[in-house]
Amino acid sequence: MKIAIIDFGGQYTHLIARRIRNLGIYSEIYHPEDFQISAEICGIIFSGGPQSVNSEDAYKIDFDITKSKVPILGICYGHQLLASILGGEIESGENTEYGATAIQIDAKSHIFNEMKIDQQVWMSHGDHVAILPPSFKITASSESIKIAAFESMDGRFYGFQFHPEVTHSTNGMQMLDKFLKKCTKVRDWDSKHFKADLIAKVREKAMGKKLVLLLSGGVDSMVVLELCIAAVGNENIFSIHVDTGFMRKNESQELKEHFDNLGYQNIKIIKAEKLYLEELKGVVEPEAKRLIIGKLFVDIANNELARIGLKDDWMLVQGTIYPDTIESGDSKKAAKIKTHHNRVEEIEKLIKAGKVIEPLQDLYKDEVRELGTELGLPQFLVQRHPFPGPGLAIRVICSDTTENNDFQKEEEKLNELLSKYDMGGIILPIKSVGVQGDFRTYHHPAVVWFEENNLLSWQVLQEVSTKIINSLKTVNRLVFSLNKIAKPKLDKLFLEKSNLVELQEVDALLRHKTDNLKPIWQMPVVQLPLLNAVGKRDYVIRPVCSQDAMSADFYEMDFDYLKKIMTITQELPNVGDIFYDITTKPPGTIEWE
Ligand code: XMP
Repeated sequence: MKIAIIDFGGQYTHLIARRIRNLGIYSEIYHPEDFQISAEICGIIFSGGPQSVNSEDAYKIDFDITKSKVPILGICYGHQLLASILGGEIESGENTEYGATAIQIDAKSHIFNEMKIDQQVWMSHGDHVAILPPSFKITASSESIKIAAFESMDGRFYGFQFHPEVTHSTNGMQMLDKFLKKCTKVRDWDSKHFKADLIAKVREKAMGKKLVLLLSGGVDSMVVLELCIAAVGNENIFSIHVDTGFMRKNESQELKEHFDNLGYQNIKIIKAEKLYLEELKGVVEPEAKRLIIGKLFVDIANNELARIGLKDDWMLVQGTIYPDTIESGDSKKAAKIKTHHNRVEEIEKLIKAGKVIEPLQDLYKDEVRELGTELGLPQFLVQRHPFPGPGLAIRVICSDTTENNDFQKEEEKLNELLSKYDMGGIILPIKSVGVQGDFRTYHHPAVVWFEENNLLSWQVLQEVSTKIINSLKTVNRLVFSLNKIAKPKLDKLFLEKSNLVELQEVDALLRHKTDNLKPIWQMPVVQLPLLNAVGKRDYVIRPVCSQDAMSADFYEMDFDYLKKIMTITQELPNVGDIFYDITTKPPGTIEWE
């Protein structure tokens, strides 16, 4: 028995497959053009996707769904496609929703049977279903859209505009479980013990060759190293750790101690800060930065392999995990959100030549941590915050201009929306990456503040964040300031030693002060090309709660504690205003670039 998931290019397709397996049924992903129904398929799910069903080149499916004998669930784009094929109508435009959304469900429907009426779900869409197909009924609505979910009277077709598969849809698993109950009574899939399978796979793919690892020191690359040691033994592995200069304060030194304590052998640590800073001189574009960083990793590794005389007889092992590949646009139809450093052209060439092994490529962060624990890595290493391969280089927002945009009209609208909450705000003259409706966005953040300090409320900030981003097209991220601020000045900022050291200090202090706040899953500290009223550099902290990086919520820090750590941090030289990111993912990615 299996559930077929048809991939229309959504960011979450693989996550749907994983959730179905977590619920005890095997699932497999198909491309729309390759899909054929077969006897073992007991249910079908149409995934989300970046397109509009109404566009001429929208992905369709070559299978007459009206004849389907098994239940079909459409999610997001899939929900719209299902409605459109069966005679409904889809509208594009104003009623967009990203992130946490309240819906009211029909507790008497087939699908939400006996669930609580008020539910929190995660949305990420531009279009919506405006008219239902005949013989269908609405099973959930939100404030902005009437048809947030539907089902056919005969119980064969279901549609969710939201994403039940992300952990931030509070009862999403229960909703998926209810759909699976319509498909089959059998639950016979146990996904738990993949350790032995993965070790065997690495051994088989290594084909007796030496394994070369680029060891960033993060959780993924350490778990991969443990896996390789278990598969082929320490003596057949050569690891390279490149100190790019973009590591956190003292990180390369600390890593060396961990490597020694764990008894790793054959690790070469290469100091390459000068080379990286030289190659990145004057580069401001986020994609360009990532590509240069990724290429240099490969060049350095190649030089090192030549130096030790390892010619062709090696395989490169990478700690790529699933979210890295999906956001690089690896699925045939997914939009590119960003190119991860381990998907640059030089690596793609090696992949094509069959010289790369990526044992973790189907796993999510929480699964990698489980695997690391099973392999015997200590918890303090396995549970560390994720840190991106390009490191602090993607946490310095570079700028080669001081020329500011004029946001007068948008700021008027922003303040009109904020006045109801006794809040004010401005739009920042910089951009950050986001993901909205399965597409990459590159828009402006807005800063908001409360006019009176006694009004501080996370509930209001949550509401304001969703409202502003859904209403203002130029804004894809919201940050919050404890105080009203004057418009910061746009400043030139490049990847240079002096400002990297400043970022390292701010990052180290804030990390130290928040280490004990366990719900925080990751906390990027970002340096901005902005100077405050007295000419000091502005920063952002982005503490997020997540399980697998695919969706994330911002952490609600105690306001008194937040004030305290802001004050301490502002005592560091040249630290101006520090903003607190209050954007969920979607619409904002976790990192700013
Ligand atoms: P985003 O910003 O896409 O991040 O929401 C999701 C997770 O991926 C990490 N990340 C990276 N990791 N190379 C990496 O190894 C990269 O280029 C990269 N970009 C983002 C990010 O820190 C978060 O945990």
